[in-house]
Amino acid sequence: MSYPKLRVDINKIKHNTKTMKDRITGNGMETMAAVTKVFCGNKEIAQGFVDGGADFLADSRIQNLEKLADFSVPKMLLRIPMLSEVDDVVKYADISLNSEIETLKALNEAAKGKKHKVILMVDLGDLREGFFQEEDFYEAVEAVLSMENLELHGVGVNLTCYGAVIPKPEILKRLDDYRQGVKDKFDYDLKIVSGGNSSSVYMLGKDELPGINNLRLGECLVLGTESSYGEDVEGLYTDAWTFQAQIIELKEKPSVPTADELGVDAFGNKPTFVDRGVRKRAIIAVGKQDVDNEKIVPKDSGIIVLGGSSDHTILDVTDASWECKVGDVIDFGVNYAAILSLCTSEYVEKEVYEG
Ligand SMILES: Cc1ncc(COP(=O)(O)O)c(C=O)c1O
Repeated sequence: MSYPKLRVDINKIKHNTKTMKDRITGNGMETMAAVTKVFCGNKEIAQGFVDGGADFLADSRIQNLEKLADFSVPKMLLRIPMLSEVDDVVKYADISLNSEIETLKALNEAAKGKKHKVILMVDLGDLREGFFQEEDFYEAVEAVLSMENLELHGVGVNLTCYGAVIPKPEILKRLDDYRQGVKDKFDYDLKIVSGGNSSSVYMLGKDELPGINNLRLGECLVLGTESSYGEDVEGLYTDAWTFQAQIIELKEKPSVPTADELGVDAFGNKPTFVDRGVRKRAIIAVGKQDVDNEKIVPKDSGIIVLGGSSDHTILDVTDASWECKVGDVIDFGVNYAAILSLCTSEYVEKEVYEG
């Protein structure tokens, strides 16, 4: 056994994927892209997405798509490509999301001999990627249509990632207007109208996603939650992941540092302390290098996360439901940000199991 460890029940991931795919097609949409970035393109978990019916595997990092090269489902690059990676983009991604004509030209050069598909992103107010001005969008459409090695595949939007804009029917309707605009101006049918991420999920079943035929889902599939209101999505598992870390020290100590003068902690912050008197404190072998300790929640509600440094996390286990000892393993629930950093840490073992 090796710790710290992040465990995921692949059957729950498959169930969530299949349920969302059914719900998406049940809402008259055609395809679902399953986003692999939170688990850094882990092949076993990606296989769960494919088994659950994902139409595309999508990731923001080309290195993760490279790991998934053997999968036959089409791969989508979510982050606008860097000019320095266009050769890899056309090699490992079938589709990329784009918003810069210069980059599209470079992709066209790199894609000689094949057809690389592009989705043009529009910014509908969230102020991350995408064409903000309509004329710039149509200029890009015209440019791509003249490029021999690119296929203009669709239009897309991303919301609720930077600007926290909640998707609404009137916002997403503009995406369909862009599709119609391309049809009217260029007599060209866009195949994909990609209406966002897990923040659009709350609108499913309400007839509020006009013209949208694709969603790109990450959080919803791995955690069973939507990201507009942070609600659990009915019928999905929200507990597929467990993080485990081992106790390396267990001692009774005061709950406030014992000195007259306090400076800053290892991260330059001025810490604050709640005086609970002398408490039983456990140190577990995981630190901020692996995960922000505010993003993990002990499954035993008697345990409190007090804080930590790069390699140590300190818990108050006085009220734990069992008598903790050195070597015991503490289980935690995780949120999306915690999964992202735990998967990125090479010091954390990953275990995929069938529950
Ligand atoms: C462009 C794009 N689409 C979709 C997603 C998936 O987002 P979510 O995890 O909220 O479903 C992301 C983020 O991972 C993204 O950057």
